[in-house]
Amino acid sequence: MNSVLYERAAGGIAWITLNRPDALNAINLEMRDQLWEMMQVVREDPEVRVAIFRGAGERAFSAGADVKEFGTAPTVMEARGARHRRDLWWFMMTLDKTLIAAIHGYALGAGIELPLACDIRIASHDARIGLPEVSLGYIPSAGGTQTLPREIPPGVAMQMILTGDPIGAETAYRYGLVQRLVPRERLYPEAEALALQIAALPSHVVALAKRAVRNGADLSLDRAIALESTLAERAFSAT
Ligand code: COA
Repeated sequence: MNSVLYERAAGGIAWITLNRPDALNAINLEMRDQLWEMMQVVREDPEVRVAIFRGAGERAFSAGADVKEFGTAPTVMEARGARHRRDLWWFMMTLDKTLIAAIHGYALGAGIELPLACDIRIASHDARIGLPEVSLGYIPSAGGTQTLPREIPPGVAMQMILTGDPIGAETAYRYGLVQRLVPRERLYPEAEALALQIAALPSHVVALAKRAVRNGADLSLDRAIALESTLAERAFSAT
């Protein structure tokens, strides 16, 4: 059974389903490799403009990295080297296509770091979101210590990271960690409607807008505005 499912749908969208429901969609090495392959497919396929991530089963988007695999890499250097060669999270953040995460149930550790590497997050009321790594004796390593404080108030992010305590969907919505909060049965229809709306727009303009927001965020304001001007000119000249 594939641990990630990829389905293209009408209107320029693709669904990417984390598919290990018996393990609460924990992200093991095989799943990570498949996610990497699928992101290459999303990048290369001109028909796909927006991809939506979701988790199979009723209990979780993903309960994070597969803790049963911890310590199985031959050496720390090898594990680190593999991560560098295939930096999935950075690839997602800098991809010229829109990524949406549709989150239900548990979204813990890498199970929320993956959505944080997406552009927009939608959650259902049953979502439980947290970074429990410190309680396991290490720290988030799929970008969470950097991406979370960029999305929600830094103090709230710090509290989540230092305690490991999860927050509920309402709290996540209140702090802007998720942009929409919907009943469970509305989660995928809402995500799809949003994806179709974005997919119907000129793809090069959407890509430039994403680049402006992503690349500008870490620059000084004057340099960020200069970047925006450059990208805006490119958008004008292409239309
Ligand atoms: N890695 C590997 N397997 C996991 C997993 C993970 N991160 N999270 C859950 N699973 C597996 C469990 O081992 C169990 O498998 P089993 O039936 O073969 O024993 C199955 O998923 C169901 O999980 P279970 O713990 O029985 O469900 P629960 O309702 O009692 O608890 C959680 C749910 C999410 C609270 C609990 O599974 C948990 O704390 N998971 C680890 C979360 C975590 O620390 N993630 C971050 C890693 S960096």
